[in-house]
Amino acid sequence: MTSEIGSERVERLLAELTLEEKLGQLTQYFYFGAIDGGAETADGAPTQPQLVEGALATGGAGALLFVNDPAETNRLQRQAIEGSRHGIPVLFGFDVIHGLRTIFPVPIALAATWDADVIERSQSVAAREARAVGINWVFAPMVDIARDPRWGRMIEGAGEDPLLGGMVAAAQVRGFQGEGIGSAEHVIAGPKHFAGYGAALGGRDYDEANISDQELWNTYFPPFHEAIKAGAGNIMAAYQDLNGVPASGNRWLLHEVLREALGFEGFVVSDANSVRDLETHHFAADLTDAGARALNAGMDMEMAIFDPAFGHLRAAVEDGRVDIARIDESVRRILTAKEALGLFDAPFVDEDAAATVLGDPAHRVAAREAAEASAVLLRNEGVLPLDAAALNRVAVIGPMAASARDTIGPWVFDYDLDETVTIVDGLRTALDGRAEVTYASGVPFDRREFPSMFEMFGDSGPFSPEDFDADAEFAHAVSDAAAADVAVVVLGERQDMIGENASRSSLELPGDQLRLLQAVAETGTPVVLVLMSGRPLDLRWADENVPAILEVWYPGTQGGAAIANLLLGAATPAGRLPFTWPRTVGQVPIHHAVTRSHDPQAQGRRYWDEQSTPLYPFGHGLSYAAFSYGAVAVSAGEVGIDGEVVVSVDVTNTSDRDGAEVVQLYLHQRYGSASRPLRQLAAFERVEVPAGQTRRMQFRIGAEQRRYWSAAIRDWTLDATTFDVWVGGDATASAHAEFTVTA
Ligand code: BGC
Repeated sequence: MTSEIGSERVERLLAELTLEEKLGQLTQYFYFGAIDGGAETADGAPTQPQLVEGALATGGAGALLFVNDPAETNRLQRQAIEGSRHGIPVLFGFDVIHGLRTIFPVPIALAATWDADVIERSQSVAAREARAVGINWVFAPMVDIARDPRWGRMIEGAGEDPLLGGMVAAAQVRGFQGEGIGSAEHVIAGPKHFAGYGAALGGRDYDEANISDQELWNTYFPPFHEAIKAGAGNIMAAYQDLNGVPASGNRWLLHEVLREALGFEGFVVSDANSVRDLETHHFAADLTDAGARALNAGMDMEMAIFDPAFGHLRAAVEDGRVDIARIDESVRRILTAKEALGLFDAPFVDEDAAATVLGDPAHRVAAREAAEASAVLLRNEGVLPLDAAALNRVAVIGPMAASARDTIGPWVFDYDLDETVTIVDGLRTALDGRAEVTYASGVPFDRREFPSMFEMFGDSGPFSPEDFDADAEFAHAVSDAAAADVAVVVLGERQDMIGENASRSSLELPGDQLRLLQAVAETGTPVVLVLMSGRPLDLRWADENVPAILEVWYPGTQGGAAIANLLLGAATPAGRLPFTWPRTVGQVPIHHAVTRSHDPQAQGRRYWDEQSTPLYPFGHGLSYAAFSYGAVAVSAGEVGIDGEVVVSVDVTNTSDRDGAEVVQLYLHQRYGSASRPLRQLAAFERVEVPAGQTRRMQFRIGAEQRRYWSAAIRDWTLDATTFDVWVGGDATASAHAEFTVTA
């Protein structure tokens, strides 16, 4: 998609549109028809949906969001086309984050597969379902780097690392968009939130981010760059202040970085109301100023609930603050996107076909496979896999084990609870006729202290009934455990405790869950802790006292079936952590690619009251198989500055079970123009290794892997220096080699 000059149709439309119609194209409205259900306002003023429909009828809206019913998208599309003078279709955007009807594991879980194929396939199913109902643009993937798990939106991204994050970003863009914008059954992808949103101060969602230039270039921008190289048609600007300038009014960010350095050619949308918010930031004087400064910074489309700032731009055009050519540039980008999608020729969807697409059984299979691939076995002292033949009774404990709403996780709107497989369902089906599966919640659902922002969608999931007898239910769970061969204890955060506007100041298991886990463990029955979360939680007690811990995230529609397969050994865990797992909230922010200053001996002793090492390193994850690494070989001890070495290592599956290993290569530059991380992920590959076999892995380490943005010279650079290489199964990999780069 190029925006320099549009197609004949686009240029003809541009020549015909009035200024108001142009500004309409630059406006995206939330449409709350499904939420307000036709309610009237008390004073008879138009409701939000009536306002939006009024705008549609006069060419005053270029896009809508939050419509996911095919009859509604068709109805509103018809209004747009017939109501305006030029018959321009609208874009329908939506937050399709991990599936539309078929819900896949949450994004952080998909990242934990370290597998581009699984990720691409998952998002292509999501795209197919979305397009079938008339959605043609998704506000995904979220590619924000997150190193502070207090920030609830960590769940929407790929974790801490720019290389892994870049792979996950590109795979999602390919999944959503297919071969390119306009591919059948695909949609436009909108990587977000540009940029630095994940570095919110204190992990408090929406708070300012202060990020050094070297972190921006080396860490925060690369996943966006990969998404852009994969063809992303849209980028969403972030809400927050970045180094003192709001991202949505930041010309350096939206123009110099995004367009000039990263080569983005699609259209930029604001976050919800983030242009109007330029006033809230104490940056813009009023709404006209907000609109003018966002537009001049590089914003193409404003997402708003009502009274968009872009609607006030006539005054700014008249007094010369905004050049009409700048407006045309944005309109051109948006019309070009509509044309590329094929909307001018085929604006409507087949309402009958939609049901068939949403019900496609192949989608459920893909969701189960993704859930199996994403679970991370954190610890296993010989308990897993369970031997079904030796089981008479399995006690499943914990409120989320039977909660369909929690199984599918946050950021979903069109799910089907009836077809969702919970962990209790999954184990009962898998063990049918072989073992009894009992269920006790043990503790009540922990109520949030403050209402969730998703309560407006009626989406908080189950609460325990008012007459819930906590003591009796606790005792019930413990006695179930005592009478069973194994206790599967499902704990974590209920789905609305994480996500947007859901930061936490603690990483402890909420409510009484730890006490429940301790009481169950005291029965002497072997315990498997199944963790549902989208961030690391404080597992210090569990890691010492519970023999098996499986992180299953929020695994989606088929989650329970996948987890039963994993627990019973029909599937082998192969997920790996996409972030460093801290011991306690006091260690955050934490990640593996840190630099070192001062005495290395002090490295493990930074805190007076706690070790400074993580509980589980970045990249960690166990398997029912076992892998060993041979010596690391480097093709040359010395290469020139643009040269490349090939790093080889043999990985052997020493067990009698097939399994997949994620082989990870970490690099360290010993000296150079700036300090470099002690270890940084530089290459990886997920590889299936059959029982008893060896696979030779090869990684190319060239200039691309050694290049970095140096704060000392304020530019990209390659240093002549010596590099350490480690290859292994996590960030503590020990198989080592080295090579030198000469000038
Ligand atoms: C979020 C975005 C989302 C948008 C539309 C905002 O509050 O930050 O990620 O795409 O709402 O739902």
